[in-house]
Amino acid sequence: MTVDIAHETLRIPGERFLHSPGPTPIPAEVLNAMHRQPMDHGDPRLDAVIANCEAGLRHVLKTSAADVFMYATNGHGVWEATTENLLAPGEAALIPSTGHFSEQWALQLEATGRRAIRTPYRAGYPVDASVVEATLRADAKREIVAVLMVHTDTASGITHDVAAMRRAIDAAGHPALLVVDVVASLAVSPFAMDALGVNVAVGASQKGLMSPPGLGFIAVDARAGEVASRNACPRYYWDWNRRRGEYSYQKFCGTPPQNLLYGVEAALALIAREGLDAVIARHAVLARAVQVAVERWSSGGALQLHCRVPEARSTAVTTIEVREGIDVAALRTAARERFQVAFAGGLGPFEGRAFRIGHLGNVNAPMILGCLGGVEAALIAQGIPIGRDGASSAAASLAQAMGA
Ligand SMILES: Cc1ncc(COP(=O)(O)O)c(C=O)c1O
Repeated sequence: MTVDIAHETLRIPGERFLHSPGPTPIPAEVLNAMHRQPMDHGDPRLDAVIANCEAGLRHVLKTSAADVFMYATNGHGVWEATTENLLAPGEAALIPSTGHFSEQWALQLEATGRRAIRTPYRAGYPVDASVVEATLRADAKREIVAVLMVHTDTASGITHDVAAMRRAIDAAGHPALLVVDVVASLAVSPFAMDALGVNVAVGASQKGLMSPPGLGFIAVDARAGEVASRNACPRYYWDWNRRRGEYSYQKFCGTPPQNLLYGVEAALALIAREGLDAVIARHAVLARAVQVAVERWSSGGALQLHCRVPEARSTAVTTIEVREGIDVAALRTAARERFQVAFAGGLGPFEGRAFRIGHLGNVNAPMILGCLGGVEAALIAQGIPIGRDGASSAAASLAQAMGA
């Protein structure tokens, strides 16, 4: 009964570790910032909060000139906002197949009357930019309006090469916009909107931004803004042009999600205080520790890292394939209910065949070690054959990276 589970949660001593790849653990500073009364729409302090969020997002996106639009929505909402603005029904986008999330975006695009052109999907490997280039070259009528790329596909745990995608578009001499989903990669992996020639970046609050779910945002450069302005397709809530203006009520096409904005403002300030480069470096060290543990566990023959290309392994989430016959749902339940570590299952074709450990956002070395210790205990308790010393190998990896 759900009521019993809720009561059980209250009785747990200590913390239950949240290691899903979003939502992620929220810092006390962010929770506390949200614990405030809303303001009236005309209060200049509200305008200042919104301005701070816009500036903070530009900082983490590394863009000086892009317009930033924020929405009371999740990642799916900003996907749709982006395609509603850029493409009229019947128009096409090229979606490099990165896995579950590129496919979901493609399905959403098709459901709203647009055309999705997919590249072939190769599980375990990053996208081949030469296929993107060839597809664009073959588009003689220049029908493809945009390349919609998922930077880190949270299902596969693979981070794809944005620079290679920009080079592919340029090499093909194609006018398609480069649109990048940074939902799982922002403030986690290196990303620089302006330097990479990204026209539109699409993100959400609940992952690297260490905030509750519910705030989506889109950064739009001048060229993408022009494409949207020429798109005569009727739209209202999502419309970028309708949201341009001074007033908070106009920027959000209605009442802004104020308490979420207080939280996001605080989270962006935390990132700025730690330093964006330090944040990215921390994620790389923690991700490596997780990979080391999984490599050790894998010597038992039951598990393996999904991503076959080490340098493409995400620093946000690690996807671990399991041998046939292993009950992933039972493993997750054991980990969550007995060892207080919540991690995610496989998605799409990997449902029941993989599990995923999130290591992004408000995480540090002891949290990662606690997570790995809990996962290791759950693996042992479930009788899954693993190479031992995964968690202590992770500790050694951390000591090497952070001990100097
Ligand atoms: C890379 C990526 N894009 C988009 C989404 C969709 O976001 P949401 O679940 O907030 O709608 C997710 C969700 O996990 C994601 O990981």
